[in-house]
Amino acid sequence: MQISLKPCKDPSTIASDCLVVMSNGQLNGSLNALNDATDDAIAALLKRGDFSGKLAETLYLPIISGLRAKRLLIVGCGDGKTLSEADADKILNTAIDFMNKKDCKDCCLLLEDLHIDGRKSPWLLQRCAQLLEVSTYRYSETLSKAKPAASLRRAVLQGSNSEGNRRAIIDGQSTAGGINIARRLGDLPGNICTPDFLAKESRKLARQFDTIKVSVLDEKKMQQLGMGALLSVSAGSEQPARLIAIEYQGSAKKQPPHVLVGKGVTFDTGGISLKPGAKMDEMKYDMCGAASVVGTLHAVASAELKVNVVGIVAAAENMPSGRATKPGDVVTSMSGQTIEILNTDAEGRLVLCDALSYADRYKPASVIDIATLTGACVVALGKHAIGLFSNQHDFAQELQRCGEDARDRAWPMPLWDEYQPQLDSNFADMANIGGPEAGSVTAACFLSRFCKDYRWAHLDIAGAAWNSGANKGATGRPVGLLFNYLQSKADN
Ligand code: BES
Ligand code: MN
Ligand code: ZN
Repeated sequence: MQISLKPCKDPSTIASDCLVVMSNGQLNGSLNALNDATDDAIAALLKRGDFSGKLAETLYLPIISGLRAKRLLIVGCGDGKTLSEADADKILNTAIDFMNKKDCKDCCLLLEDLHIDGRKSPWLLQRCAQLLEVSTYRYSETLSKAKPAASLRRAVLQGSNSEGNRRAIIDGQSTAGGINIARRLGDLPGNICTPDFLAKESRKLARQFDTIKVSVLDEKKMQQLGMGALLSVSAGSEQPARLIAIEYQGSAKKQPPHVLVGKGVTFDTGGISLKPGAKMDEMKYDMCGAASVVGTLHAVASAELKVNVVGIVAAAENMPSGRATKPGDVVTSMSGQTIEILNTDAEGRLVLCDALSYADRYKPASVIDIATLTGACVVALGKHAIGLFSNQHDFAQELQRCGEDARDRAWPMPLWDEYQPQLDSNFADMANIGGPEAGSVTAACFLSRFCKDYRWAHLDIAGAAWNSGANKGATGRPVGLLFNYLQSKADN
């Protein structure tokens, strides 16, 4: 979508398929100017009680003389009290959905009368650009007839053409581009989106951006590196595992990179510890951590953030077969630590631990892994909050803040030493499961044993990565959180 800024001094002169104005039901700001240009038509409608201004209420004027715009949409922004960020989303999405339904090709959003508690105007512009771009996402890949594209092609946002405002729009649109990529990869079925497919999609980034280099390790190379944990997951599958490294250079070469590690289990049957059948199709989403890494790298490159970032995708398919890993098998990880695999369905931590050891070679400034790691996290937090773990308290706080800014929220969980003994094994340095209690915590404890040498956080996105039910589909989370974090690390 083409999104631009305009000061929009006199809104009646704006030519557009649809002009959107926010109102609390009073004749102030832009609505007042529009009323003046339309011979008090709007005042009459308000007087008649056609519009009260309550949150996300709409008043649609398909034809109105006095304005250059073809249509006018008035969206309620509540009764005067300050608006929350969630309210802003509701208002903006109401307008965007409405215009797409009316087949509008371009629009102008007057945002001046929208005041969000604690947020300045660039925040709203960024949010608006992001929501507009996200609204263009369509999954059509495996439909015989593609869904019609969103009608909106161009949007003008009210705001001065300042550096900060322009930046906000680029950031919002880049974030959304990354979200849409992550959603597509997530939504693609497991028979298309294999580890090798993820490698090929990652390679596309290198072709698209001069700032990105991609390298892919095959199973032989991983064997040489001693990645016995990762390879134990792909052992039962016909699809070979891949370890994908996506390197983005936006800052001086000597600047240590921030590393993102994504769980890319392209289908999780559970392996020999087979999952029950109900909803097993949703385990195609078990690569959403990887998808968010690919999406974030795309976002960072298209926004040209001045920071170095490395994305590592640990891609494997978890299948039962005669060659599959069995409960009780012991494997040796790249770190040298041995692992007794008591449950082959706890495979995410196995692919991640070797990828986390691999991250060490980048001498990273920070490492964040992103994984649909545990059903227990869904039980604990549901779909709204991402589970947030870190070996450094201030890092968790920092990421929590980034999530709040991006409306892609994470909530801190404990990573206390007291939980570690749940991973004790009689036959290896550790077991890969920690019993029924605190399942998402013991999974994080397992990972922490491979992250001793750097600033590390773990995001368990098992609940947040996709929606189930009628609106089944990937959400693209946590691209928003990750983008904000990396932006906060960029020079200038
Ligand atoms: N991918 C699953 C976690 C998951 C389950 C995410 C449901 C979202 C929805 C992961 O590989 C897994 O199977 N974890 C097990 C761990 C257990 C065996 C310790 C789980 O959560 O049941
Ligand atoms: Mn599993
Ligand atoms: Zn899994």
